[in-house]
Amino acid sequence: MGRAGSNSLLHAAKKSKNDEFYTQLSDIERELEHYEGQFEGKVVYCNCDDPHVSNFFEYFFQNFKRLGLKQLISACYQERSRDLHDTAMNASGFFVTYSGENKEKDEVISENIAYFEGDGDFRSEESIELLKGSDVVVTNPPFSLFREYVDQLVQHQKDFLIIGNVNAITYKEIFKLIKDDGAWLGINLGRGISGFIVPEHYGLYGTEVRIDEKENRIVSPNNCLWLTSLDHAHRHHDIDLTKTYYGCEREYPQYDNYDAINVNKTKDIPKDFQGIMGVPITFLHKYNPDQFELIKFRKGDDDRDLSINGKCPYFRILVRNRRLVSPPPSAVSNVEVLDEEPA
Ligand SMILES: C[S@@+](CC[C@H](N)C(=O)[O-])C[C@H]1O[C@@H](n2cnc3c(N)ncnc32)[C@H](O)[C@@H]1O
Repeated sequence: MGRAGSNSLLHAAKKSKNDEFYTQLSDIERELEHYEGQFEGKVVYCNCDDPHVSNFFEYFFQNFKRLGLKQLISACYQERSRDLHDTAMNASGFFVTYSGENKEKDEVISENIAYFEGDGDFRSEESIELLKGSDVVVTNPPFSLFREYVDQLVQHQKDFLIIGNVNAITYKEIFKLIKDDGAWLGINLGRGISGFIVPEHYGLYGTEVRIDEKENRIVSPNNCLWLTSLDHAHRHHDIDLTKTYYGCEREYPQYDNYDAINVNKTKDIPKDFQGIMGVPITFLHKYNPDQFELIKFRKGDDDRDLSINGKCPYFRILVRNRRLVSPPPSAVSNVEVLDEEPA
């Protein structure tokens, strides 16, 4: 085999390793409790989930009646291994549907299992058909396909609650979606997601690792988040602002390449600054769209990273406090007209 071939195999192996992080039930429960009432009458689709092992399937199976679900679908992708002649070996993906029958999980799986013709890839026609018939997608999808995964959900206008890497918010497409209020961060992030179950063969390269009471190997990368289109209470809480800009201007330097000031920590956002501010990306975890407007990500007017005296310390999100922005003159004159007493 040529060098390119072995390199790409290595790459594929690395990629799929990163995709083999299985979500713990406790982490799912800790997030899902913030969306109570939003699953009533809904079809939930877990499209990267082997129902035999997935805790997403387990969670919705256990809570089916309490949440008032209409149906649960869990689809398992079967990565096709290739033989010496590079021919795909036969392995079909499959899915299980559950509509609330009073049966044990294993019984439900064995009675309701159906096989895809293909491998069950979430992008396949067969899986997309199931997606079309569902309302909400909840899962931890393969990290290597995250952009494509979210794009498909948006195209099909499906609600979702999914796990991704925190870096995902720096992807152009994902930031745009957040800016346009099509998605936002869920509740738990970083250490708030306690860890993932990894298979035996997974190398534990210095990551935090432990073995749980069921002998599962758990790694805690502490770099994941929930991304969702489901509403939750936290995104309607204002960030408490205590600092002031006027009198402390030197703490908030201007960027070289954009008319905005730099703010190093979300808690230091001044309460009296009407203009645009560059804030750290962790701001998005506290962001209330009624309080702040997202303007732009990372780049100045010259399309280079925002800089201060030629240095670009960190990625910043440009935001403006909506509560301080004065209404446009036309809106003001309308208010005046409305306020006038009729002659
Ligand atoms: C990060 S793991 C999470 C598994 C499960 N959703 C969970 O949270 O425990 C991602 C899963 O997606 C599956 N997968 C990889 N590529 C896929 C694809 N193209 N379509 C559907 N599933 C895929 C992998 O087999 C793996 O089980």
